[in-house]
Amino acid sequence: MEDIIMSDQKPVILTCAQPTGEMTLGNYIGAVKNWATMQDDNQCYFGIVDMHAITVRRTPAELRKATLSFLAQYLACGLDPEKSALFVQSHVIGHTELAWVLGCMTPLGELQRMTQFKEKASKLGFQVSEDEGSNNDLKFTHESAKPQASVNSGLLYYPVLMAADILLYNADSVPVGEDQRQHLELARDLAERFNNAYSETFMVPDPYIPKVGARVMSLQDPTRKMSKSDENQNGVLYILESPDSLRKKIKSAVTDSGTEIRVADDKPGISNLLTISSALQDIPVQELEERYVGSSYATLKEDVADVVIEALRPVRERYEEIISDKAGLEKILKDGMERAQARAFKVLNKVYRKVGFFERVR
Ligand code: TRP
Repeated sequence: MEDIIMSDQKPVILTCAQPTGEMTLGNYIGAVKNWATMQDDNQCYFGIVDMHAITVRRTPAELRKATLSFLAQYLACGLDPEKSALFVQSHVIGHTELAWVLGCMTPLGELQRMTQFKEKASKLGFQVSEDEGSNNDLKFTHESAKPQASVNSGLLYYPVLMAADILLYNADSVPVGEDQRQHLELARDLAERFNNAYSETFMVPDPYIPKVGARVMSLQDPTRKMSKSDENQNGVLYILESPDSLRKKIKSAVTDSGTEIRVADDKPGISNLLTISSALQDIPVQELEERYVGSSYATLKEDVADVVIEALRPVRERYEEIISDKAGLEKILKDGMERAQARAFKVLNKVYRKVGFFERVR
């Protein structure tokens, strides 16, 4: 008999990203570079979540372009379609189907209380506040500032779809950033809730925490994470950025008082530059600190610029090659879809049986 939880020789790792904008150096160092190293010892599924992307209105042509560009950036960073499944969420039957089933087990209040939902709603001019005395009733008050805005229900449902992305592959672990922790927690709760309501079906996925937690901060405000949505784009480096532009931004990075080059809480700017250099060269920070005894901040910046430019040069060159081969990209997506779908169908049919649907014939 088939195992209840599909066991594979290798642990299954799944992670996804929205096709929005370009990848930052922070995404590369903090995430994608690590994913690339996990591909031999794990069975990896890398999804591009275009369905999550339309929770915000997108221009169709732009979305398609971003999806292909994201795939090409993944490939340029070393994700390998021979080893891993690279797929687009909207291609695989099961994500929305499972999301529906899970949604029917999720109280509305749980979604309304999600931190990211509240943040997004408040950006649209809605305040979500908990009503005293009741857990589930949340008050929505609409400020008149943005009369056109509305909170679409996809935004509310977003974490359920994300839980489905994860559970559909019965993933053992899920590499996510700190900002996605609460969403992953919901996926774990839903896995347990389903298992208790029906019977053992889902693995309860663990967050994947990388050994070296290199967190790249904004060059302009090194107390904040480097983020593509940052208003001050001078603090954000992109993996496809030109060498000139990279150098210019690094040279104008804010530094700290004093002259010593070392990692310290009161030296967030210098710490960040050292972290970047250390991660890209695989050299321990201590070694760099020794190397820079007596050097100036200006020298450090020149060196970091060289390191970043050289590390990203091959990435950009590979990207240019890959993005110009549209047929090649489409073939990779088709292969990825087939591999992802094969696994997804097994889990989906198990869920269908458990909840009382008939199995779906492929
Ligand atoms: N919400 C995630 C983000 O914005 C993207 C995402 C969607 C995801 N589904 C996922 C990440 C499943 C990990 C696993 O970063």
